[in-house]
Amino acid sequence: MIGRAKGAGVAAVLAATLAVSTASDLPAVADTGPAIAGVAALPPLGWNSWNTFGCNIDETVIEHAADAMVASGMRDAGYDYVVVDDCWYSPQRAPDGQLQADPTRFPSGMAALADYVHARGLKFGIYAGASDRTCAQLGGAYPGSTGSEGYEAIDAATFASWGVDYLKYDWCSTDSSTTRQQAAFTAMRNALRATGRPIVYSINPNSGVAGTPPGATYDWSHIATMARTTNDVSPAWTTLWGEAGPLGVLDILDTHAPTAGGDEAGWWADPDMLEVGVPGLTPAEERTQFATWAMMSAPLIAGNDLDDMSAATRAVLTNPRVLAVDQDTAARPPRSLPNDPQIRVKALADGSIAVSFTNTADSARQMTITATQIGLPSYVVEDLWTGTRRDGAGALSIDVAPHDTAIVRIAPHS
Ligand code: GAL
Repeated sequence: MIGRAKGAGVAAVLAATLAVSTASDLPAVADTGPAIAGVAALPPLGWNSWNTFGCNIDETVIEHAADAMVASGMRDAGYDYVVVDDCWYSPQRAPDGQLQADPTRFPSGMAALADYVHARGLKFGIYAGASDRTCAQLGGAYPGSTGSEGYEAIDAATFASWGVDYLKYDWCSTDSSTTRQQAAFTAMRNALRATGRPIVYSINPNSGVAGTPPGATYDWSHIATMARTTNDVSPAWTTLWGEAGPLGVLDILDTHAPTAGGDEAGWWADPDMLEVGVPGLTPAEERTQFATWAMMSAPLIAGNDLDDMSAATRAVLTNPRVLAVDQDTAARPPRSLPNDPQIRVKALADGSIAVSFTNTADSARQMTITATQIGLPSYVVEDLWTGTRRDGAGALSIDVAPHDTAIVRIAPHS
């Protein structure tokens, strides 16, 4: 097992007393070591077309997104993957079996699009189905049956030849056979390894499958770089249509947080993409998704229309202090306080702690972490949204607006 450092900082004592499980407590489905060497030492940061554009994509949409990643400051804040989701491909493979770009919407081809993205200092990602169909094909929204099962070697080689740096690989079958799933995901892992190109391997074992999501049932850390733990996120606070449908941000948080983070190099549990800036969430709810995803060391894959981003959305997505919590090298999972589970504590690599206070109520609430829980007689507390610092002592109480999340860093006096 290749573990991450688990040093004890000043306030890690507190975190150590709060019980938590991680993905590696689940049954392992593969051998040891990183799935793909040399990628994702920290949670991947990027943008993906699905949450805003769905199947309505073409090369102009992706080029604009790449340009906007640069112009908006997202790239400089650390976001580097531009991922083309479902519906980019022709419904038929080429005569030699290769996947090919849809000739009408991507007339320049995917290699040219990858070049466009790379020329802007960004990395290029693409989507494929792990079974016989992609999810749009499974649901009937897109013609054809171009899943990669049985084509893993040729598809991985094609992607590598196009300059792909990130593969989103989606189960998309109602067959939940664990054996078949693990074989399919392992086959693509092996095919990606064989290309020699460092490609982030992002899997979703849950799509199409009824019942408990397999992504949360097994430890996928040796098969993939990141694996989805729940069904799809939606731009909603709570789940609207039951567990099998799109999930609210709060439900994903409560389901995912207990197994977030990880202790394997190059592996990240994935609570799905960001809905920050996608119409549906209030500004408070957007802050909650971003802050709590950062507490969980989640991959942060923006899903908003980057060409049409408000200053408020950009301020959330590029907040350097909250991003630093996500990218903290210790990658420790957040732990909920027993007396108030919506207060989460994450012990950071430098010995300080990040604390998030999520108010799930519909009215403002004062939320408190006690002096004993902080574990320091006096301290410096930094509001990570604003960067404002002040001295503190004893318990720390914060007024939190409805559905909002306050996030602070508490450090000993230097
Ligand atoms: C879902 C996946 C979404 C998106 C969609 C495309 O299974 O979770 O993020 O990729 O398929 O059809």
